[in-house]
Amino acid sequence: MLEKPAETAVPLHDLLARRWSPRALVDRAVEPEKLLALLEAGRWAASSNNGQPWAFIVADKSDQAAYDAMLSCLMDGNQSWAFLAPVLMLTFVEPIWRGQDRANVKAMHDVGMATAMMSIQAEALGLRTHHMGGIHRDKIRETYAVPPTFEPVSAIAIGYQGDEALLPEEKDRAREANPRTRKPLEEIVFAGKFGTPATRT
Ligand SMILES: Cc1cc2nc3c(=O)[nH]c(=O)nc-3n(C[C@H](O)[C@H](O)[C@H](O)COP(=O)(O)O)c2cc1C
Repeated sequence: MLEKPAETAVPLHDLLARRWSPRALVDRAVEPEKLLALLEAGRWAASSNNGQPWAFIVADKSDQAAYDAMLSCLMDGNQSWAFLAPVLMLTFVEPIWRGQDRANVKAMHDVGMATAMMSIQAEALGLRTHHMGGIHRDKIRETYAVPPTFEPVSAIAIGYQGDEALLPEEKDRAREANPRTRKPLEEIVFAGKFGTPATRT
């Protein structure tokens, strides 16, 4: 199984360093208690004012019709590999404070907190996740009768990683082996003024 541990300046916890976003997932069901653990990890994420401005819809292959409906909400470039995932999830944000006529400007941040927690919990359980922004938002609204107070954010493919040969499309097989890269710390961590690299990093 392809591992792509992050090259880090200092050692990180294994769960953080080893997490990555594979596309090749095997045809093995995710145990219900593991899926529940992912959802619990999301539920217990920190959020601004404990607003918890998130919601999730899950589909797995035990209900093929429900699964296919969710798969069809992904853009073609994601469907080409995400159909392998035994579990798909949609994520939603509630961008207005409930009961108030005021934007929660941290809402999207908090959905990211929750889904990041899910990815780390997945890693701890031997699962991997792949987040997708390439979704059909209007179709999701219609298919799932999403209330106007919520907006679709992303989808997540969840499962056990397999060999890249599982991927039918060459472009996806090639991407699987791509090195994982990040901007250097000097480009993103500043001291004194924005843009002035923090020398201690
Ligand atoms: C919010 C979000 C949206 C993403 N959208 C897509 C997507 O639509 N399709 C895709 O193949 N990967 C998508 N990705 C995966 C990223 O490309 C991937 O996380 C990034 O390249 C870093 O790789 P790593 O997760 O393996 O470290 C998305 C990731 C995030 C967090």
